[in-house]
Amino acid sequence: MNVETTPRQHEPTVYHVKKSDEGSALDIRNFNLWYGKTQALFDINMEIQKGEVTALIGPSGCGKSTLLRCLNRMNDLIDELRIDGEIRVGDLDIYGPGVDVIALRKRMGMVFQKPNPFAMSIYDNVVYPLRVDGITRKSILDETCERALRSAALWDEVKDRMNESALGMSGGQQQRLCIARGIASDPEVLLMDEPCSALDPIATAKIEELIHQLRGHYTIVIVTHNMQQAARVSDNTGFMYLGRLIEYGATDTIFTNPKKSQTSDYVSGRFG
Ligand SMILES: Nc1ncnc2c1ncn2[C@@H]1O[C@H](COP(=O)(O)OP(=O)(O)O)[C@@H](O)[C@H]1O
Ligand SMILES: [Mg+2]
Repeated sequence: MNVETTPRQHEPTVYHVKKSDEGSALDIRNFNLWYGKTQALFDINMEIQKGEVTALIGPSGCGKSTLLRCLNRMNDLIDELRIDGEIRVGDLDIYGPGVDVIALRKRMGMVFQKPNPFAMSIYDNVVYPLRVDGITRKSILDETCERALRSAALWDEVKDRMNESALGMSGGQQQRLCIARGIASDPEVLLMDEPCSALDPIATAKIEELIHQLRGHYTIVIVTHNMQQAARVSDNTGFMYLGRLIEYGATDTIFTNPKKSQTSDYVSGRFG
């Protein structure tokens, strides 16, 4: 990958979301991204608040996943990717020189559209990130496994079948397992890219409930094309369109009193 960064030319207009006094967990400044010659993100400025749930909404292809994947440098593997601007996680400029991407990804757990449990036991899935870190002591693995499964609201369903394959679980259970695995490495941020799109309504409701419970402990950024879901689970919402962040603010405001006509057209279902 070819990452180029240029010095900031001017002070950006940052959308500040005022609600918690916790400060920002992530700060995206003048961020642009190109796939080859095609620009996919245009001058994104966004502060994501610590301990809150931030939803990214917008029609298919508007750049939601692209932006989310930049937050833990998941796009690094794509050829001919070029970025410009800055993303800060705490004090770390994540595209700055000498950044340890593996360490960064530990701070930023990721949950994908399709649950992706590994072909191993439920237990081994959850403790996988610890084993990768070289942790072998059984008491630590056991304790982390239980804590992560409880946090992911899955413990009661699986505590008697920890050695069974994760592939035998339902889709909703698999997704909660992936969240447990994400939590096991004790990240600061959980990134979720349409985590319910492959799930039925009951499994979806469980994940949404889980997001409520995890709020506060983790900063959560969730991409969803489901506006009702964004309205239900998030504190703040960013509406994206054609690679731009059109409007960003408190979820209530975005859904009931948006400032931009494009936002109101989208949230009222007039397009997208
Ligand atoms: N790996 C890639 N290579 C080239 N173009 C891509 C790649 N991934 C996404 N795009 C393009 O970038 C734009 C934004 O895509 P994406 O971030 O997936 O949107 P969303 O998640 O909002 O549906 C789309 O035009 C898409 O075709
Ligand atoms: Mg997407």
